[in-house]
Amino acid sequence: MNRRALSRILTAASLFVGILPADAQSPGYDQPYRPQVHFSPQRNWTNDPNGLVYFHGEYHLFFQYNPLGDRWGHMSWGHAVSTDLLHWRELPVAIPEKDGEMVFTGSVVIDSENTSGLCAAHKPCMVAIYTGYRKDQKGTLQNQNLAYSLDNGRTWTRYARNPVLDLHLSDFRDPSVFRDEAQHRWLMAVALPLEHKVLFYASPDLKQWTRLSDFGPAGDVAGDWECPDLLRVPADKGGPDVWALKVGLNPGAPQGGSGEQYFLGSFDGTRFTASTQPGSHGWTNYGKDDYCAISFNHLPPGQRPVLLGWMNNWQYASKLPTSPWRGQMSLPRRLSYLSDDAGIALKQEPITEPLRIDHATIVKSYEIVRDVPFELDLHFDLVPQGTTGLRLYTEPHHWTEIAFDATKHEFYIDRTHSGATVAPEFPVKTTAPFVASRPCDLRLIVDRSSVEAFAQQGTIAMTNLIFPPSRHTHIVIFHSAGGAVAVQGDMWTLQSIWK
Ligand code: FRU
Repeated sequence: MNRRALSRILTAASLFVGILPADAQSPGYDQPYRPQVHFSPQRNWTNDPNGLVYFHGEYHLFFQYNPLGDRWGHMSWGHAVSTDLLHWRELPVAIPEKDGEMVFTGSVVIDSENTSGLCAAHKPCMVAIYTGYRKDQKGTLQNQNLAYSLDNGRTWTRYARNPVLDLHLSDFRDPSVFRDEAQHRWLMAVALPLEHKVLFYASPDLKQWTRLSDFGPAGDVAGDWECPDLLRVPADKGGPDVWALKVGLNPGAPQGGSGEQYFLGSFDGTRFTASTQPGSHGWTNYGKDDYCAISFNHLPPGQRPVLLGWMNNWQYASKLPTSPWRGQMSLPRRLSYLSDDAGIALKQEPITEPLRIDHATIVKSYEIVRDVPFELDLHFDLVPQGTTGLRLYTEPHHWTEIAFDATKHEFYIDRTHSGATVAPEFPVKTTAPFVASRPCDLRLIVDRSSVEAFAQQGTIAMTNLIFPPSRHTHIVIFHSAGGAVAVQGDMWTLQSIWK
């Protein structure tokens, strides 16, 4: 690319177009570190997203939730809805802990044909398939259970003959269920965490399940396998769909703690087979803070699959310095896959609502000042040696660095100086290998307590929490050898979703 590549950024005038504090209209969403473009519950603890589904014009986000406190416990399903995947409205708890049974991670499907018989006269209705968790003197038990809702997810009834799938195991969880229209059946991927396996089941009615096959151990097996998701992924630019199997690993992920790997391959209706093509095994996120992501069920026709995860890591999730809530979700991202000379890779494109203010042209290195949240869409013209990227300064001694290291062929986020250190495992530099033949583009979304980076056409996703001392950010584009940096791009302000 042209070394005189131009940069298009904000004009000075637009710097004065500030963002109104979120609490101007929405009390309760303006505490320190409160995410402005990511979902977080108004109060209390959350972990994994659950039951992501589109129904009657609403996207539903259920989530692991403790209605009684800001630490893990009393697991229930919290609930929020959105009409655009951006703005969320939190609703009362959907499925509470009951009679000693906690409600662990699972799915929601729309039973259009009333195959379950649970919809009665209300077809189509919503059916949740979740892991029930019990712990008593005899030990722990995890099995799969149903609940249903006849009023668009507002109230839920547990199925009277639960559980529907029980192997009498202490670890058997996180059913991911979806419709196989072609064969008029339901399919489930569910984890055997300690054996590093995903089991596949089929059912005509969500109640009786027949085991089809197992996948694993495979890939990385350093920790428990959790939160599997099997989904069909379209090509980014034409070509056949592939199947992706995503599975959480905790602990033992490459960046430490919890993380997620994916396998691209094929599913013949019974068995998932991982491809051996280069790139078919990777990490859905190379940062530390994206876990137990799942995809939406029943999206409107033509929409690419949408994945959304818990923006956190089990290493320090209970230590985050936020109140009165703890835990937040990643941005939703649309999935496709890319295939080029270097191989195949999962692609993620975050869904945001960028509001263009203005742009300017810069030919030298520059510095801009913004308040979070904002989005940068940049394209770097890499020098073959050294590091090219940007630093986000919130104070002279507090910064987060996001860059491509051409010498090491690494993309990274360095949060060692980003602010509050939270726990010993927190201040790290997370890295991902980059493919020299792919463009070095970067989409970066900076919120009050996170940076989410999507590099190389979204084939590298890197999500990291940060707890900076201020919302005010000086953005400095740099090259390690100094001098001008060839970069072009746009900067966008993002409006708080809580207004
Ligand atoms: C993963 C996980 C799941 C489980 C849930 C319990 O973060 O451990 O396997 O269903 O959290 O809250």
